[in-house]
Parts: sequence; C-alpha cells; structure tokens
Amino acid sequence: MTNQNPGLFIAFEGGDGAGKSTQAAALAGALESRGVKVLRTREPGGTPIGEKLRSLVLDHGHGHIDARTEALIFAASRAAHADQVILPALERGDVVLTDRYIDSSVAYQGAGRELGTGAVHDLNEWATSGLQPDLTVLLDVDPAVGRLRRTAGDAAEDRMESEADEFHAKIRSAFLDLAAGRPDHYLVLPAHLPVDELASLILARVDELLLSRQIPWQVSRNGVAP
Ligand code: TYD
Repeated sequence: MTNQNPGLFIAFEGGDGAGKSTQAAALAGALESRGVKVLRTREPGGTPIGEKLRSLVLDHGHGHIDARTEALIFAASRAAHADQVILPALERGDVVLTDRYIDSSVAYQGAGRELGTGAVHDLNEWATSGLQPDLTVLLDVDPAVGRLRRTAGDAAEDRMESEADEFHAKIRSAFLDLAAGRPDHYLVLPAHLPVDELASLILARVDELLLSRQIPWQVSRNGVAP
C-alpha cells in the first residue's frame, strides 16, 4: 500500500558507511528552511521500545542471535516505529525522513542472512500494515569503501558492521535488485559523489515529488501562505 496520507514519506537506504545520515540531515535542513515540517527518524529505533530493541540486536554481548530472531527484532522495532511515529506524522502532513526502513531488512536479513527476500518482505509488510515510502533514496556504496568510511577515527563496529565484506556485498546487490524492480520509486545514487552534489540531486527529486503531489507547501515555497 502506498502512502495515502497528506504527508510525504522518504526512506534513505544503503550499506553501512554510505552517508545516509548526512544526506537525510541535509535534506531536512533544506526543507525546513522553506518552512516545511520535517520529522527525521531512524531504524532500528525511533521509539523507546525500538531503541531497546536496537541495542539488543546491534550491541555485542547478547550471545548468539539466530537469523530469524534477528529479523523479528528488526520487524518489531519497525512495527512500533510505523505505528507510533511515522504514521501519525504522515497524518499530520509532515515530511518523514527515515534512515533505513523495510528494504534494510530485505537486504540484510533476507539476502545477507539468507532468510529469503520474499519472506522478509512479507513479514515487514505485515509489521507495518503495508505502509510504504513515497520515495526511497538508495546510496550505493562499495562495501570496502563503506568499511573504510565508518572505521575512520577507529569507530567501533556493531554486530552487523563487523560482518565480512562478502556479507556486505550480498546486501549491496539486494538493494540494487530492489531498486531495479521499481525504478520509479527509487533514486539510486553513487555514494562516492561529493556531499553537496548528492544533496542537490536528492532535493531536486523531492521537489518533483512535492510538485507532482500538489502538496500545499509548494505554494508556501513561492512565498504565499498555504
Ligand atoms: P546503524 O548504526 O543505524 O547503521 P547505519 O548508520 O549504517 O545505518 O545500524 C544499523 C545496522 O543495522 C546496520 O548495520 C544495518 C542493520 N539493519 C539490519 O540488519 N536490518 C534492518 O532492518 C535495519 C533497519 C538495520
């Protein structure tokens, strides 16, 4: 089910170290400077229970977590996030920017952990009552480059990040397959482009979407109150 609410729902996806958070922050800033109400959020997390689930599934030290348990924890965090945070904001008419959504589970658990992309997709459709983004921005990053970027300054790697490059290569191709299956829904960009160039390409695409949806803030952009 596509988003039928007045707000606009945009997901940022990509491998670890792709620069999603930087781009989500840049887009939020550009939209807010025009008076658009933006909600920035992330997965796993975004709610009190989601943040607890995040530390359960990402922190080292909880012992072995089998792939199905892992997929269910991400889906549980997402269910709370969709119901308590994303949907209410879309109903209010906000632009919601999430750092990761269903595609991350399809890529990491479906492809990376080999649970099957279809099964993981279906689980998450159920968890979110089918709430889908209007646009998914996929920042495509080479796994080796992503690892270098995220360990710059010796940042410690979490459970997923510390997986081998082959695991991250499977994830990268799963993301690209998802985008190839629905080209209208995705904006795929090479993560190595300069930050400012990426930001303007993303903003241009979001502007098209705002115009095509004839959402009131396109009027306020021209200085006229919606
Ligand atoms: P995070 O610190 O948010 O990484 P990033 O900044 O790269 O997004 O950690 C999220 C990690 O959890 C990341 O390695 C991807 C993984 N993940 C899944 O495996 N499945 C999921 O459904 C989600 C949302 C994240």
